[in-house]
Amino acid sequence: MTKTQNHQKVILVGDGAVGSSYAFAMTLQGVGEEFGIIDVAKDRTVGDALDLEDATPFAFPKRIYSAEYSDCEDADLVVITAGAPQKPGETRLDLVNKNLNILKSIVTPIVESGFKGIFLVAANPVDILTYATMKFSGFPKDRVIGSGTSLDTSRLRVALSKLTDINDPRSIHAYMMGEHGDTEFAAYSAATVGGLPFLDWAKANNISDDQLAKIEDDVRNKAYEIINKKGATFYGIGTALARLSKAILRDENAVLPVSAYMDGQYGLNDIYIGTPGVVNGQGLAQIIEVPLSDVEAKRMTDSAATLKQVLNDGLK
Ligand code: NAD
Ligand code: LAC
Repeated sequence: MTKTQNHQKVILVGDGAVGSSYAFAMTLQGVGEEFGIIDVAKDRTVGDALDLEDATPFAFPKRIYSAEYSDCEDADLVVITAGAPQKPGETRLDLVNKNLNILKSIVTPIVESGFKGIFLVAANPVDILTYATMKFSGFPKDRVIGSGTSLDTSRLRVALSKLTDINDPRSIHAYMMGEHGDTEFAAYSAATVGGLPFLDWAKANNISDDQLAKIEDDVRNKAYEIINKKGATFYGIGTALARLSKAILRDENAVLPVSAYMDGQYGLNDIYIGTPGVVNGQGLAQIIEVPLSDVEAKRMTDSAATLKQVLNDGLK
């Protein structure tokens, strides 16, 4: 089928729990006209495409199919969710060697296809794998984005909405930042509710520092809790990836949490790490450098140092 200018094409690589949840979210939300699925488990991609197309009459029209790497040539967006997930007790960083090898075998044929769109990476450890995608592909940094702390930020907003009785988490503007992993932190000092600084709200409502620290800790550990109970996390990240995809495919200039390449922001260089950024049809248009408290700024620096160490050990 010839692709017209307004026809948006997405290729998903990795049709496991995360990838198939993302595919389902994209189908229900009617984002993009064409959706190809790649996985080493070819039969699964054929089965999923057949299953997902049965949802389109209840949602939006979309062509969904089992794809080859050559299909990436005229894709607008490639989303990478292929890779081993954590087993109970494993950290995201424990996955690095296994998933770097898988990533290389994926990025090479995508680039060889002539792909000129945007990479969105979700496989873990996502900040490291996003950096590696940029290196392996040779793409400009703004066209390689990681899902970063999208999911963690959503977890924080859910937790704060429960705490404050503002039942709509979308009304709470607060970010988890840093590594998508054990060194991430809540940027409470920059959080707001209806324009009011969240920390002022917390004080006026007798919410203690200990309560806020516990929420941050629970958010940091939520993935472990879910993995211990059901083996994997996928609906949250699947929907977060659909949100990021929509911002890209609809050229939204939306402010969303991403893993972005640092070029001096937060005093950091040559690393991908979680921060809010402006996302549009060109990828990452701008990093929003959140004004952090001294303690938070130190946690950002420490989180980056952890990632840098992994990059130095694994990639250089
Ligand atoms: P999964 O095991 O269910 O799926 C992984 C898929 O990758 C499988 O279908 C497998 O066949 C495929 N795959 C493996 N090697 C491949 C290759 N060389 N080429 C193509 N496909 C290949 O795992 P999952 O639960 O879907 O998790 C996938 C990744 O996403 C993991 O690394 C996990 O840690 C990560 N994850 C990230 C977030 C986030 O917030 N960024 C959230 C949840 C999970
Ligand atoms: C998460 C995955 C495991 O749910 O990274 O946070």
